Amino acid sequence: MRLKVTVLPGDGIGPEVTAEAVRVLHTVEEIYGHSFEFDERLIGGAAIKQAGTSLPTATLDACLESDAVLLGAVGAPEHDDLPPERRPEAGLLTLRRALGAYANLRPAISYRAVADCSPLRTEVVSGSDILFVRELLGGLYFGEPRGFTREGGASAAFNTMRYTVAEVERIARVAFDAALGRRSKVTSVDKANVLETSQLWREVVTRVALDYPSVALEHLYVDACAMHLVMNPRKFDVVLTENLFGDILSDEAAVIAGSLGLLASASIGGEVGLYEPVHGSAPDIAGRAQANPLGAIASAALLLRHTAQLEQEALDVEAAIRAVLDAGYRTPDLDRGQSKYIATTHEMGALVAEAVAEVADMRHAYHAV
Ligand code: IPM
Ligand code: MG
Repeated sequence: MRLKVTVLPGDGIGPEVTAEAVRVLHTVEEIYGHSFEFDERLIGGAAIKQAGTSLPTATLDACLESDAVLLGAVGAPEHDDLPPERRPEAGLLTLRRALGAYANLRPAISYRAVADCSPLRTEVVSGSDILFVRELLGGLYFGEPRGFTREGGASAAFNTMRYTVAEVERIARVAFDAALGRRSKVTSVDKANVLETSQLWREVVTRVALDYPSVALEHLYVDACAMHLVMNPRKFDVVLTENLFGDILSDEAAVIAGSLGLLASASIGGEVGLYEPVHGSAPDIAGRAQANPLGAIASAALLLRHTAQLEQEALDVEAAIRAVLDAGYRTPDLDRGQSKYIATTHEMGALVAEAVAEVADMRHAYHAV
């Protein structure tokens, strides 16, 4: 399999974690005899500094011409005072839209070895396995009109939440299709007791559900969902929600996993898939080799699954992540004082790469018997 991947390290810990994800992909390439080509480009604050804009044309063109995009993180405190359209984040939002990546898949899994890293009781989180399906190109993030204005002599600002039937329908289908391969349950999250967009959302999702008679559908208001997620995470299978609610709830899900550093995401639906860890640029630990690369590596596994259709390779990378955690290796975000070894970002990446080779070897040995 030949694959052209545009790598966008971005800001803060982005370059550190992305390097480890690329390392693991190189290992997969060698072991399974694939040919992956990596092309590194600028995005975010790094691009603002070097090219004057958060998404240079050269970056966008490279992304559009590749099979997949692997991104680290965007955002830097030095740009905090800029208006939204000039911030590093604007580059990412424009890229998502240009790629047509409307479906954001965010698995939140409680790995057995680190279940005790959650501030929630182990018996509450252990066994949790949730897939967030977040609509990524609509809602408040992209709704027009938006802007700053003046009202009665005072400064004001406004945004627009809007959704079309077609936008809700296509993301709902992604969620129901995903549920078919899982535990056949979709929880659709909205605020239909207050918002018109949510009433439309609920109506469309209910209609789409008729095409999936084997999947159970429940509707939850977003405030109640936020509570149930930490009260009883195991009751969730697929959580389907609009852009901003999904942004908020998927960070909350980090509490279930034990660290934001573990969470991966895939943004698909367009020609080119975009893969990025859920965590941000974490400027406080950038450049210190402390960042957890597992979210970025798990995002690379999603790239193998969704763009390359290399399911076995994806499963092996995921098994390798589990194996490294099972063996007791931890980055500082996962340390509870009893870790066997506190690994640097680079060491963690190398451990996963080694484990991928071992997992693949073991599978071959098993099949040979
Ligand atoms: C995420 C991030 C982004 C978002 C930011 C960086 C624009 O928080 O991917 O969850 O809000 O979508
Ligand atoms: Mg977010």
